[in-house]
Amino acid sequence: MCGIVGYIGKNEAWPILLEGLKRLEYRGYDSAGLAVLSNGAIDVRKAVGKLKALEACIKDNPPAGSVGVGHTRWATHGRPSDENAHPHTDCSGRITVVHNGIIENYLELRTELEGRGHKFTSETDTEVAAHLIEEYYAGDLASAVREAAKKLDGSFALVVMAQDEPRCLVGARRHSPLVVGLGDGETFLASDVSAFLRYTRRVIYVDDDIVVSVGSSDVRLFDLDGAEVEKAAETVDWDAAMAERGGYDHFMLKEIHEQPRALRDTMRGRLNPDLARIELPGINLSEEDIRRIERIVMIACGTAYHASIAGKYAIEELCRIPVEVDVASELRYRDPIIDERTLAIVISQSGETIDTIVGLREAKRKGAKAVAVTNVVGSLAARESDGVLYTYAGPEIAVASTKAYTTQLMVLYLIALYLAQVRGTIDESRAAALRAALWELPGQAEVILNDYSEVVKAAERYYCFNGFLYMARGINLASALEGALKMKEIAYIHAEGYAAGEMKHGPIAMIDPTFVTIAIAVQSKTYDKILNNIKEVKARSGEVIAVANTHDETITNYADRVIRVPQTEELLSPVLVAIPLQLMAYYVACNRSPNVDQPRNLAKTVTVE
Ligand code: M6R
Repeated sequence: MCGIVGYIGKNEAWPILLEGLKRLEYRGYDSAGLAVLSNGAIDVRKAVGKLKALEACIKDNPPAGSVGVGHTRWATHGRPSDENAHPHTDCSGRITVVHNGIIENYLELRTELEGRGHKFTSETDTEVAAHLIEEYYAGDLASAVREAAKKLDGSFALVVMAQDEPRCLVGARRHSPLVVGLGDGETFLASDVSAFLRYTRRVIYVDDDIVVSVGSSDVRLFDLDGAEVEKAAETVDWDAAMAERGGYDHFMLKEIHEQPRALRDTMRGRLNPDLARIELPGINLSEEDIRRIERIVMIACGTAYHASIAGKYAIEELCRIPVEVDVASELRYRDPIIDERTLAIVISQSGETIDTIVGLREAKRKGAKAVAVTNVVGSLAARESDGVLYTYAGPEIAVASTKAYTTQLMVLYLIALYLAQVRGTIDESRAAALRAALWELPGQAEVILNDYSEVVKAAERYYCFNGFLYMARGINLASALEGALKMKEIAYIHAEGYAAGEMKHGPIAMIDPTFVTIAIAVQSKTYDKILNNIKEVKARSGEVIAVANTHDETITNYADRVIRVPQTEELLSPVLVAIPLQLMAYYVACNRSPNVDQPRNLAKTVTVE
């Protein structure tokens, strides 16, 4: 995945482009570039590495001009290098393109274009777009982009600039996001709104197979046949401060601290202060639809997959509907049992993860109704599903997902309670107790965030250990898996999440004094069994940190260290358990790596299969 941005207006373009790229850097950070229409010619600057490298190479001699495009890259075709960094230009250097996505037929197109004399300077798929547009260009950039888009297979969001048309930028999209920002005498194009939020919150989400031509004060949209189409502008409710670090050392830490607010926002309007019932209009399923559901399939990747594991426990317990959870990349290849009585729940922070989207399409093709749980308004998952329930987490910039996870959990609990309410599968006193406990969660999250000195101390003690094992039972298996993923992705330490009952079937062999076990030991049906598992680890000289409830005295007799979280219903406890595990990974990573927000080899959203 990459980030793209375009600017046309009254101000110098390069600082606005760089600023936009900073906001998009979470999408990829192995190289970056920008191009500005400067004194009648296109001036392209590129640098391998993070955005700072590009910044350094332009700051002494910036390209003057008020129209430009920029790109931050996560390499797919061609290694990170100056040549492969975007923008890419045609043979003449008069047309330049930035691209997010994958052009699947690029090899075939490249061979054809080379056969017709085009000279390529990079190994990227993107460069074919520049040369194709060059072939179609006859003084009308929008129509050339349209014709080129018809030839491209795969996914793309493009922003194109032509030297001969200094008053416009042209964008096009298929399956990769593209948003227009409508400023005051200036217009933006970007992969996501955070790139221009400090200038405007009025946006137009560009649809698939639409070409958009923007000037500083005008926007026109066309379909691929050239017919003009209308699309209303919307106002986004994110503000610029939400996409800033706000005094925190890293976005990840800021986002961890935002969880009480994000949980409240995600609950708002769905569970009201009278706690009487759950309202979920976005789910877009009639009561009849809900009563007809025979099975649920959850489709997600990474952290969202872990949320779906917790969702399975909650829905099966409360609604008595069988739930399958699938790593999205596996679903389509195993011919899953899905029909018109299946509900697919698709969970994705970005709403853009290609494996998840392909899984969603497969479920729909087999007749399922689909509901998306996503954080990004207008994302692919939102648009392609029958219903959408947004997680109001606000922009999540750090690659490691934190507030998206806990708000996904919140939505899944709301779904479970709503389905149970409609199907009458739990009695009202149990439902009322769960609604009341749900309502308390944001405040309890605040309590954890007010004092987590024990987590910081534990991180200082254990950051140089060889491995972490997270063990849990029941719904907190999701917490164990998620805790381990956080540790791996930002601290680069081997970590595994395991069902505690499975320890004796293999993992216990790894226990030694250099190996830390984090045991999730909050109050639950299986609390005593977890205590036994802790004893087994201690008997083999392993170090144990327990995550336990505030007033649990027993646990101190078992674990080396205890990290406390307030008590809640077992079913809801993953929301609270997640927070110290996120903090643990964060502080361990801070002791080991300079790249907490942008861990090596990763991108925030994976738009390649
Ligand atoms: O945007 P999505 O929720 O679909 O992303 C799914 C995963 O790529 C994502 O959760 C990933 O695992 C995170 N980096 C984990 O912190």
